[in-house]
Amino acid sequence: MAKTASFKNAPWMRDAWYIACEEKALKKKPLALTLLEEPLVLFRSSSGKVAALEDRCPHRSVPLSKGRVCGENIQCAYHGWQFGGDGVCRLVPALGDKMEAQKARARAYPVREKHGFLWVYMDAEKPPASEPVGFPLREVKSYQFFRYEMDFDAGMVATAENILDVPHTSFLHKGLFRSGKLKPIDVEIRNHADRVEAEFFGEPRPKGIVGSILAPGGGVVRHVDRFILPSLAQVEYALGPYSHLMISNYLSPINRDVTRMFSEIGFRLPVGGGAVKRIVMPLAKRIADQDYDILAAQQETIEKFGEERLFSTSADVLGPRILQLLKRASKADSKPLRRTNQKLTMYV
Ligand code: FES
Ligand SMILES: [Fe+2]
Repeated sequence: MAKTASFKNAPWMRDAWYIACEEKALKKKPLALTLLEEPLVLFRSSSGKVAALEDRCPHRSVPLSKGRVCGENIQCAYHGWQFGGDGVCRLVPALGDKMEAQKARARAYPVREKHGFLWVYMDAEKPPASEPVGFPLREVKSYQFFRYEMDFDAGMVATAENILDVPHTSFLHKGLFRSGKLKPIDVEIRNHADRVEAEFFGEPRPKGIVGSILAPGGGVVRHVDRFILPSLAQVEYALGPYSHLMISNYLSPINRDVTRMFSEIGFRLPVGGGAVKRIVMPLAKRIADQDYDILAAQQETIEKFGEERLFSTSADVLGPRILQLLKRASKADSKPLRRTNQKLTMYV
């Protein structure tokens, strides 16, 4: 694997669920946001139903998000036309009871509320073929959860690669996460129809305070990084018999250059959640800031040079595979992803 096609112009799946925002971010006023380059307006009707429409009034193309909620409808701020959650025009005040604008429809996207988030299905043309999967381990007792949200100045594939890439951790996050002294570890890469994953063997227990929190008794580390269609970048750590950490990062492409990440850490550890909050979360924040800066620098350089140059080697285990998976899922490339198990040794 040497050359890699563009991450920046990677396709994204439209017929899939993406997180738009936290449920509590949608208050009484309509909320404007962008997903997959589509300006959307979300609103909650008086009876509590959430709807997502394209943020454009069919009458004169004024953003509907400038309007207000009126019972079950959203009302445009310009001439007061009202639209239901299905996007159909229900009232043209200047015409009184006469309805001649039912055909003036705003595109409506399916919405669901799950695990405290609003999920939007980004294909308005057909009904969703599935329901949002949500976050894992929610139903399992004895797990605790933390969540955070962050924007990256980078496309979705570059962001997913960064989250799941191991070699950079010895350099960019040296001292925080890995010692910087390179040691061989074995990797098994697995391609499936809906995901690609890399499992690492022989990884030593993290050093220092983090290691003693995660696995006070030492033990073998099981580490799997995976990307699941359409946009979940997941890092799983199991240390010893009891400790288990699942970091699930749902990526919502705002456009080709900005990706919003909704993350949840689900964990079961021999220490209380308080220690994790005090020690692990600030560390995770520092690591995320380093990643933010390096991705922004990568993006800036691509823009400065006017082209994206990527040269991958076999140690770039997931980035090129994520790209391939997305191309296939969005039918930009019909070549099937070979269901292989591949092994290699890398130094991290
Ligand atoms: S532009 Fe929306 S009602 Fe006229
Ligand atoms: Fe990183």
